[in-house]
Amino acid sequence: MNTIVVKDYNELSKMAASIVAEQITAKPECVLGLATGSTPLGMYRELVKKCSEQKLSFSGVRTFNLDEYIGLSKNNENSYYYYMMKNLFEHIDIKTENIHIPDGSAVDVDEECVKYENAINASGGIDLQVLGIGKNGHIGFNEPDLYFEAATHKVRLDSETIQANSRFFPNSDQVPRYAVSMGVKTIMKAKRILLLASSGEKAEALYKALAGPITPDVPASILQVHQDVVVLADESAYCMFRKKGA
Ligand code: GLP
Repeated sequence: MNTIVVKDYNELSKMAASIVAEQITAKPECVLGLATGSTPLGMYRELVKKCSEQKLSFSGVRTFNLDEYIGLSKNNENSYYYYMMKNLFEHIDIKTENIHIPDGSAVDVDEECVKYENAINASGGIDLQVLGIGKNGHIGFNEPDLYFEAATHKVRLDSETIQANSRFFPNSDQVPRYAVSMGVKTIMKAKRILLLASSGEKAEALYKALAGPITPDVPASILQVHQDVVVLADESAYCMFRKKGA
């Protein structure tokens, strides 16, 4: 595991965008796994900037998003589809047919999960998967559990996640209770993983994920056994390692 600690969110966003840009430059037809949430917003802004300055092209890139709420339509401002369109896809030269986001309004969610997993496999697999981390150690929407859920699946969201994500909704009652998420095995099959962590709110989750036991109770802890993970954290998110003298 390669850990990079940067000063603040601004540096984290720039460094994350450089890592993604290097991947695209090395393999213009690469497959990217993408994340939502507040953390990658700065990275997306930097990538949009690189594209508008013609320093980067997504014309050959294919993308697969980690997850989507169940029950929100694509034009709902809180859907991850909407987030991705507004924060990245509408501003870059990616081909629409190369964008993949689980369909949270699919009539048959189980069928959607199988189709999504098959599409990832058919793409040749994810070259670089970007991940955030939840305060409870989740990755995608893989919540703390008794076992690691392997493939793309329907998830019941944890009360902590509903609480954390309620900041985007008028109130917590409006946060969907279910989501579709890539599974842990789907994520672990990515050739390279970039885990982003910013702010003191993530310090404990990051510490448990990287220095604690590997357990489905802290889903991100499974990353300890992946052969190519870059952890990119700012000082606030990394503070527990400093305190423990790691
Ligand atoms: C959401 C997403 C995750 C994301 C996490 C952290 O629940 N499903 O993919 O990593 O929240 O989000 P944030 O970056 O807003 O803290």
